[in-house]
Amino acid sequence: MEKKDFNLVKEFLERQRQKLDRIEFFYPYKDEELLEVLDNGYFLGLFDKDKLIATFGIDFDEEYAKQIADIINGCKNIGIDKAYESSGLMVDGDYRGQGIANFLMDEICHEADKKHLNICGVVQMQNTASMTTFFSHGFELRGVWSMGGKYDFGYLLKKKNSGYNENIQKNLNLILQCPSKYGIIVDVEGKVDNTDMPKHRSMLARNYYGILCDKKSIFYIRKGEKIMNKKQLIDAIAEKAQCTAAEAGKCCDAMLEAIMDAMKAGDKVALLGFGTFEVKTRAARTGVNPATGEKIDIPESKVISFKASKSNKDSL
Ligand SMILES: CC(C)(COP(=O)(O)OP(=O)(O)OC[C@H]1O[C@@H](n2cnc3c(N)ncnc32)[C@H](O)[C@@H]1OP(=O)(O)O)[C@@H](O)C(=O)NCCC(=O)NCCS
Repeated sequence: MEKKDFNLVKEFLERQRQKLDRIEFFYPYKDEELLEVLDNGYFLGLFDKDKLIATFGIDFDEEYAKQIADIINGCKNIGIDKAYESSGLMVDGDYRGQGIANFLMDEICHEADKKHLNICGVVQMQNTASMTTFFSHGFELRGVWSMGGKYDFGYLLKKKNSGYNENIQKNLNLILQCPSKYGIIVDVEGKVDNTDMPKHRSMLARNYYGILCDKKSIFYIRKGEKIMNKKQLIDAIAEKAQCTAAEAGKCCDAMLEAIMDAMKAGDKVALLGFGTFEVKTRAARTGVNPATGEKIDIPESKVISFKASKSNKDSL
């Protein structure tokens, strides 16, 4: 959308905003702000025939990008220079719940990746639908800003070149929603009521960051947990062994298979100077589903343990 579409977009946003149950969930643009975004930014409009049904954009205002970065850095020292704001996410009430926001978010993330931008979303903390759209695209809650009562904002950030892997988020979703199935219980300290601003500040200060939400809470994991996926491991092996990725892939699969075969046969796998893999039996226990607070009976299960060798531990 461009400058010439100003009236169409303004009228759409105003009309949709007035229909919201909580109008503060969507902050209105001032005329000059909307003009600026249409003129200089990257602003998408989605049409059903000739009817505008959804909007979303990135504001390329450099000054504003610096101000937002300052707020995020001030909430928690992350050290970004600029964070361009994604803005104007609005889907016509008759078209919600069909994946339109997710579709527009895909486009915005793609554009930000191409341009190597940090992008952020400033979202009212109880706006679950919007928070979810950001979280499911790899944004992390990095700061909170309270204007008192209902005006509590979350600053969600997707850092440039963050190497976001869609599967990590999908896996985390599965783990958080089905803890008993995966045998993983999420630390309940990682769940904070979305109205409890002091607790959010304290979590952020303790190096946690938000990655998911339900209608009432934000779920936190610890900062600095980077996950290497299999492709990255294979690329690293290929580089170290100076072989092709295909050869490294075969070796990697063969090694993992050999370790698993040994453990299935009840053997420990002791790799001198690296560590020991072992199958242990974990007793039945009671856990808590972080999404509902319900107690869950977790039956006895077999788990694989890995104990690093002393030299490996010392090298960390
Ligand atoms: C927020 C909004 C844009 C979502 O649009 P949408 O097209 O209905 O969203 P989608 O169908 O693409 O769903 C996106 C995600 O939000 C979740 N979601 C959608 N509506 C939801 C709701 N009412 N409650 C909880 N989650 C919801 C979906 O499950 C989906 O999650 P996933 O990514 O894990 O699959 C829309 O509700 C809206 O326009 N709201 C009013 C304006 C507004 O609040 N804008 C945001 C200002 S920051």
